[in-house]
Amino acid sequence: MPNRSIRVATLSEIPPGTTLRITSLQPPILLANVSGTIYACDDTCTHEDSSLALGCLDGELVKCTLHGSRFNVRTGEPMEEPADEPLRTYPVHIDGDDILIETDTD
Ligand code: FES
Repeated sequence: MPNRSIRVATLSEIPPGTTLRITSLQPPILLANVSGTIYACDDTCTHEDSSLALGCLDGELVKCTLHGSRFNVRTGEPMEEPADEPLRTYPVHIDGDDILIETDTD
């Protein structure tokens, strides 16, 4: 299926230094505002099924609250165990106040 851009949130919903869980898509997506730049990756930790939106964002790193792995929201890469698989990341486009992500999922 080809990629398509989907509006998922507005910039006003996600101030710098915060994350937002998008449940209108499956799997759920995590948006992260890193100093004004929005990144999108899967919200579900690759170790077990914990929502990364429950963790705090420190720069580009979001920490899983269950076992403590941190992921880079820009690259999806885990920074330490127990998680050892990267998160899927999604291209982000900004259209006015709207945040759109490119995905091939419904
Ligand atoms: S569920 Fe995230 S580190 Fe274990």
